[in-house]
Amino acid sequence: MCGIVGYVGPRDAYPIIITGLKRQEYRGYDSTGVALINDTGLHVFKKKGKVAELEQSLLGKPVNGNIGIGHTRWATHGEPSDVNAHPHQSNNGKLAMIHNGIIENYAQLKSELTKKGYSFKSETDTEVLLNFIEDIQKNTQSPLEEAVRIALKRVSGAYVILLLDQDNPDTIIAARKGSPLVIGIGKGEHFLGSDATPMLEYTKEVVYVNDYEIAIIKAGELILKNLGNERQMPYISSLDLELAAIEKGGFDHFMLKEIYEQPSTIYDCLRGRLDAEKGTITMKGIQDNIEALINAPRYIIIACGTSWHAALEAEYIIEELCRIPVEVEYASEFRYRNPIVNKGDVIIAISQSGETADTLVAIEKAKEQGAFIFGIVNVVGSSISRASHAGAYTHAGPEIGVASTKAFTAQLTVLMMIALKIAKEKGTIEQSRYIELLVELENIPEKVDAILKNGDLLKPIAQKYKDAINALYLGRGYNFPIALEGALKLKEISYIHAEGYPAAEMKHGPIALVDTNLPVVFVATKDEYHAKIVSNIQEIKARKGKVIAIITEGDDIIPAMADDVFFVPPANEVVAPLLSVIPLQLLSYYIGVLKGCDVDKPRNLAKSVTVE
Ligand code: G6P
Repeated sequence: MCGIVGYVGPRDAYPIIITGLKRQEYRGYDSTGVALINDTGLHVFKKKGKVAELEQSLLGKPVNGNIGIGHTRWATHGEPSDVNAHPHQSNNGKLAMIHNGIIENYAQLKSELTKKGYSFKSETDTEVLLNFIEDIQKNTQSPLEEAVRIALKRVSGAYVILLLDQDNPDTIIAARKGSPLVIGIGKGEHFLGSDATPMLEYTKEVVYVNDYEIAIIKAGELILKNLGNERQMPYISSLDLELAAIEKGGFDHFMLKEIYEQPSTIYDCLRGRLDAEKGTITMKGIQDNIEALINAPRYIIIACGTSWHAALEAEYIIEELCRIPVEVEYASEFRYRNPIVNKGDVIIAISQSGETADTLVAIEKAKEQGAFIFGIVNVVGSSISRASHAGAYTHAGPEIGVASTKAFTAQLTVLMMIALKIAKEKGTIEQSRYIELLVELENIPEKVDAILKNGDLLKPIAQKYKDAINALYLGRGYNFPIALEGALKLKEISYIHAEGYPAAEMKHGPIALVDTNLPVVFVATKDEYHAKIVSNIQEIKARKGKVIAIITEGDDIIPAMADDVFFVPPANEVVAPLLSVIPLQLLSYYIGVLKGCDVDKPRNLAKSVTVE
C-alpha cells in the first residue's frame, strides 16, 4: 500500500527512485510519480498505471538531478488517475509532496483553505495537507520544516510525507505517524523508503523513523526532531538483508519462488531454536517473560488477513497443548470495540509486514489497558516489532508476493514452538508427546520439500477448475484455519469467489450452493476427525459437487470418492497444517496463472496495509 522513495546526494536521483519504486511495487498500487529538482527547477511527473509505464513516458524528459522523491499510490481518497497520483504540487508551485496514509480531518482543512482562495486539482487528502503547509509557511514566514511541524500538530490520521521545496533544493523534509519510513545512511548521501529495499545495494545502515518525528535530510546531514521541536538522536540499525533475497531467482513469479522457499524458510525459523535431540526450544522472548506467559489467564491474539488465520490455528494449538484460553480477534474490530483486557492477559500480535495499521493501533489500545504485548513479526525493525514488549521474528526473509505464503508457514512454525515451549514449562504436556512433536516439527521442512517435488500434479487440477465461479474450502479441527487460508489464497490470486468453512458447518448454508459446477476442496489429512470428514465428502458427492481432497499418503478411503486428490506425507495432526496448506497455495497459484492474473500483485490488494 503506497510506497515512498527518496534520494539526496551526489548520484542521479531518478534511477535510484525508479528502481526503488519497482522494488516496492509488491506493496500494491495503482498509480505512480516522481518529483525532482535540477538546474531548471522542480519537475513533477506522475501517471496512473505501473512504474514501467511512467518510466517509458519519461524518456527524453528532464529527469536529471541529485534530489528527488517518488511514490506508488494505492487509492484511498479519489480514484486512480493521473491527477490523483502523487507527487502533488502546492498552489504556488514551489512545494511537491508525496504521502502514504490518510488525513482524516482533510475536509475541514480543505474548506478553510478554499475560503482563503486555495484551489485543488485532485480529490486527494494529500493535496489538502500540502496546501495547508504552504499556507502556514506563507503566514508564519517560517522555514518549511517549521510549517510542516505546525501543520502536523493539527492533522489527525496516519501519514508518511516527503516534501521537496524549490527554494531549498538541497533538502528533503520527511515526517511519519503510523506509516513506515526508513532512512538509509550513505557516505554523503541519504536514501528513503517505506522499507529498506530501495537502498540495499548502497548501505546497510538505516534509521527507522519513529511516530511524530520530522527528518530534515540533506546529502551529508540528517536532523531528527519531534513534533515538540526537540532534537532526537537518530538510532542507527544494521540491515541484515541481501539484494538476492528480493529478486525472483529464476522463478516466473515471486509467489512461486516464495512457495518453493518454504523448506528453507521453515528450517531457518526452527534453526537455533528447536533441538529435538536435546528436547529444547530456545526462544529468548519467551524465556525472558516465561512467568507472564505461563500465568496469563488468557491470550488474545490480534491480526489481519492471512496472519489472522495463523492466529486461529494458534488458538487450536495453544488451548490443546497449554490449556490457556485463547481469543482470536481481527485487529480492526478489536481497536474499535470496547474489549475487556484483564490484568495479566497477554496480547499476541501477528503480522508479516509489522506495519499493518489496524494491528498497530490495536496494540497501542491494549497497551493503554496495561497488557503485555508479544509480537510475531517477519520484517525486522518494523513498527509492530518495535511497539511490542517482547517477541519472536519469523525469519522468512522478504515476502514480495502480495498473497502471503512463506510468511504464513513461518508464523505457524513460530506459534507451534511457542505453544510447545509454554506447555513444557507449564507442565501441561507429557514428555513423550512433547518430544514426539519436536521431532515432527523438525521433520517438516523435508516433508514440505517432498510435497513441492510433486507440485506439478496440481497443474491438471488447476486446469480442470480454473473457470469455476465459486469454490468451497472445508476442513475440521486443525485443518479448519487451513481451509480459510486456502479460500483466501484462491480469492486473492484468481478472483474466484471462495468460502472457507468448518466442514460440518457446511450443512448450515453453503451446502445450498452445491451443484455439478461447484468445486469443494476438502482439507482432509489423517486425524481424529477423518471418519467425520469422509461423511462430509459423501454429503457433497450425494449432491453431485466436485470434490478435490488434500489427503495423507496411504489414505485409500477418500480417493475412492473424490474427483481429484493430492497426497501429503503423514504427520501428527498438530503440525499437519504446515503440510496441507502447501498444495492449496500452489493450486491458487496455478489457477491464477492459467487465468492470466497478476499473481504477484493482484488487483486492489496491498502487501502492507498501512491505512485502516
Ligand atoms: C494484506 C496482505 C495479506 C496479509 C494482511 C495482513 O491484506 O495482502 O497478505 O495477510 O495484509 O498483513 P500483515 O503484514 O499484518 O501480516
